[in-house]
Amino acid sequence: MEVTKIDRENIGGALYERLSAYASSGMIPMHVPGHKRNSGMLGDELPYGVDVTELPGFDNLHDMRGVLRDTAELAASLYGCTWAFPLVNGGTCGLLASVRALTSRGDTVVMARNCHMSVYSAVELCGLRPVYITPETDADSGIARSVNPESVAGAIADNPGCALVIITSPTYEGVVSDVAAIAEAAHSRSIPLLVDAAHGAHLGFSDYFPAQAIREGADAAVVSLHKTLPALTQCALALARGPLVEPGALRRELAVFQTSSPSYVLLASIDRCLRLLASRGKEMFDALEGRLRRFDARIASLGRLRAIRRGNGAAGGAPGFYGFDPGKIVVSARGAGLTGRELAELLRAEFRIETEMAAADYVVAVATVCDEEWYLDALADALLAIDARAPSALPASGARARVRGGPEDGELAALGDAVGAVAAEHIRAYPPGTPIIAAGEVISEDAMREIRRLAAAGVTLQGLPGALRGDGKTRKRRSD
Ligand SMILES: Cc1ncc(COP(=O)(O)O)c(C=O)c1O
Repeated sequence: MEVTKIDRENIGGALYERLSAYASSGMIPMHVPGHKRNSGMLGDELPYGVDVTELPGFDNLHDMRGVLRDTAELAASLYGCTWAFPLVNGGTCGLLASVRALTSRGDTVVMARNCHMSVYSAVELCGLRPVYITPETDADSGIARSVNPESVAGAIADNPGCALVIITSPTYEGVVSDVAAIAEAAHSRSIPLLVDAAHGAHLGFSDYFPAQAIREGADAAVVSLHKTLPALTQCALALARGPLVEPGALRRELAVFQTSSPSYVLLASIDRCLRLLASRGKEMFDALEGRLRRFDARIASLGRLRAIRRGNGAAGGAPGFYGFDPGKIVVSARGAGLTGRELAELLRAEFRIETEMAAADYVVAVATVCDEEWYLDALADALLAIDARAPSALPASGARARVRGGPEDGELAALGDAVGAVAAEHIRAYPPGTPIIAAGEVISEDAMREIRRLAAAGVTLQGLPGALRGDGKTRKRRSD
């Protein structure tokens, strides 16, 4: 199947077609945006022609009654929920709005410690008290395992008044949790479950992939269409179903966290992506499954590199992992004596393959329905070639180049001196954007060791000077 040439008629991108028709209708634009769709003056590389505002016939994102309601209803039917809201400010705004809609100031929330920064921001903005559940780290691969439903049940039992449970599933590395069991634990006390499924917009469209969180019992979920589906960056959806979610509250909060001037280019991209899923989803995901199965068979002979839960890493089970998204290719570089960053550099420099993320010990590559047939073959070829090299032909550890974006030695030393103090800002590796030390937590020796290890592996760390602001060690948080 050729996914690169899409027959526009077949997917019937209603919003885009409507915008195009409007652009050629000859209307004189005496309104914003200021570019006036003047591609004669500005060139047509950027989509000025279809970049309009809430003109008559184009509905209003914050009060959907027409063409945008059609988009939202299509999303709800595809994802199996009651309400869906298109998002043009990424999954981030959906998480901020969902948390605010489901809590009141001062509430306690049970949240996975490996939640994304946006959830930490929501907790801070909404004045919530977080109770963390920390998924175990898999010693073999260094990635966080699934959230244990029993830990959630335990945290709820210890905090019976808690307002909300928040987890991430799938994670950046594609680790899926048992959403049904976690939902059951939360629902036994009438507590809603919000799942950050930013990395899982593509799940549930074929049996090869795990199910959508919202179909598994989550009350609210956020999916970033732009991450794993054919949609422009920032396109996402907030999904919800009753009875523990009040849609009016979610709509209100989305109006707080989303722009009041939503981009119709992005809205058209959301609409088009959904129509493509509706008309050709099964066919596209079956083709992707074929490519991934062929990839897995090809990398079965890897010796030192190890693809987690596939190829040579498929055997032996994976305790603590409930499920995996097969669209994420996580390759552990440890066995080859490389850091994740070094493996990513080799793939980039020698094989012209740009991966999604490099952590201390592994790289993450993303496969989607829009991959060309040969992309995964090229990745398999490159991994096999690197794997076959003698250790002397690989970057020598100890002689690693300083990586741009890494912390300065002075910053690390200052942080080391601050062990025992309270961090004023989150210190996080980005990606994935999960705090190693969250604001308000004591800077421990263990965390410091992990930060030094990540820095030595060339992982980009954010928040280092900020964590020590104020009296030289810590800064009071705004909510204090
Ligand atoms: C787990 C997770 N949740 C949420 C987000 C935010 O999503 P977005 O980039 O669509 O705002 C990210 C971004 O990388 C993420 O990794």
